[in-house]
Amino acid sequence: MAQKIAAANWKMHGDFNFVTDLTQNLFADKAIVNSKQNIILAAPYVYLKWLVDAIKPYKHIYVAAQNCSNHSKGAYTGEVSAEMLASIGVSHVIIGHSERRSIYNETDAELAVKAALVLQHKMIPIFCIGELLTQREMGRHFNVVEEQLWHGLFQLDADDFSKCIIAYEPVWAIGTGVTASPEQAQEMHAFIRGLIAEKYNDDVAKNTSILYGGSCNEKNAATLFSLADVDGGLVGGASLKADSFGQIVLALNK
Ligand code: PGA
Repeated sequence: MAQKIAAANWKMHGDFNFVTDLTQNLFADKAIVNSKQNIILAAPYVYLKWLVDAIKPYKHIYVAAQNCSNHSKGAYTGEVSAEMLASIGVSHVIIGHSERRSIYNETDAELAVKAALVLQHKMIPIFCIGELLTQREMGRHFNVVEEQLWHGLFQLDADDFSKCIIAYEPVWAIGTGVTASPEQAQEMHAFIRGLIAEKYNDDVAKNTSILYGGSCNEKNAATLFSLADVDGGLVGGASLKADSFGQIVLALNK
């Protein structure tokens, strides 16, 4: 069975005071500390080392970076390598978030390199895929997602692929308050699992965690998480409030 996961993507929100308060409030929430399912907190680079230390008492809570360089080391001012992240105890790295793809023009080829570097340093890529609204309106959403997988992740062998987490995030649902309907989410998640089964095998497909992202909140989480092929969520806005994220974690545990 695929692991169930609630992942928080804090994006570029909050100064250090905000992050320490948020973390304290998360750790004061029974749903979070008693969760039987794994929780991942994706923080800006500057807070990662602090957060890695802060989560130490909790076996089921992990720290993710939101990105890493596609170079392994060298003269790349401002970049952060997978090796650096691994060396401070980061366990997961979000790769190919739609904001990285669209604002920073990250290509599938670069994302494939990033995923490989993350795995090389024994961390887990949370690989994001998802279509734009125009692509869905043209009926191209399945093709888009399939191409993103083939060009970004399916170069991995079954052993490496099995370590990855996938996040399906329809771009039109991110930060918009518009969530994919249960039918849209389930249909796409089942499609993704089918592609994994075709490329690798049924076992790999069954065991891959496929998270939903895009305006996932405390109100819709229970419905989304009840879908057969949705193994949890990658949560942006609603993860910035401890209470909302706590309720999302509670929904995942039901
Ligand atoms: P959102 O963001 O929950 O604010 O829509 C999700 C994400 O971008 O990962």
